[in-house]
Amino acid sequence: MMMENESNHHAPASLESIPYHVGIIMDGNGRWAQARGWPRLAGHQAGVDNIRRVLESSVRFGIKVLTIYAFSTENWHRPPEEVTGLMRLLGMTIKRQLNELHRNGVQIRHSGRLSGISPELQDQIRHALEVTRHNDRIILNVAFNYGGRAEILDAVRRIIADGISPDQLDEALFSQYLYTSDLPDPDLIIRTGGEWRLSNFLIWQAAYAEYYATPTYWPDFDEEELYKALCEYNVRERRFGRVLET
Ligand code: FPP
Repeated sequence: MMMENESNHHAPASLESIPYHVGIIMDGNGRWAQARGWPRLAGHQAGVDNIRRVLESSVRFGIKVLTIYAFSTENWHRPPEEVTGLMRLLGMTIKRQLNELHRNGVQIRHSGRLSGISPELQDQIRHALEVTRHNDRIILNVAFNYGGRAEILDAVRRIIADGISPDQLDEALFSQYLYTSDLPDPDLIIRTGGEWRLSNFLIWQAAYAEYYATPTYWPDFDEEELYKALCEYNVRERRFGRVLET
């Protein structure tokens, strides 16, 4: 990963406000591949390659947390060969990229259920988190086997198991039971591939996030596209339900 001395990129100086935490719904890999007459998995491979490119751009823009939606709880319903392919892709990516990500100061996190994932892949995920846990250049939070409703249910189960009483429970305490307990809520959610849905992604955490959707397929979403999203973010008024003082 090349993070220094890159030319031909946008000066963050032109942006007044940089979102601290950006979530990305990486949609359109399949259509990107189909448009080329390639198998869908080729699109997912191109999607993985693009994660690296967008990660580098995010560092340059000063984004501190990037949460990427890599595999949803609903994705189990895809054809078995695609599910297997996505699982293998994560394993291969960890194998091939972990050292370089670590060297570049990337802290890897996982949001989602480990159960359901093969024991070998679970070990690889745990290893990646362990190796990179002290890095602080950027957090790459991989939402894998992730569903927002599943996350909320998991939180409720643990809250009950911990014997929390109804009057003790508030939003702050509830947030601590989510997979993202020690991360701030996302400021901006980007969706590629032309749909305008949240698709069960960070449904609690994104309550006040700005939402940006583009028809661009994920493998084509480059620094220029990220810059456009950040520009749009900058023109939005973020009021958190309040009335702005003038
Ligand atoms: C949607 O494209 C994309 C996904 C199913 C998740 C994104 C996955 C990757 C970028 C690769 C896997 C990542 C890792 C880290 C292993 P789609 O197939 O729904 O596209 P379509 O809507 O055009 O069919």
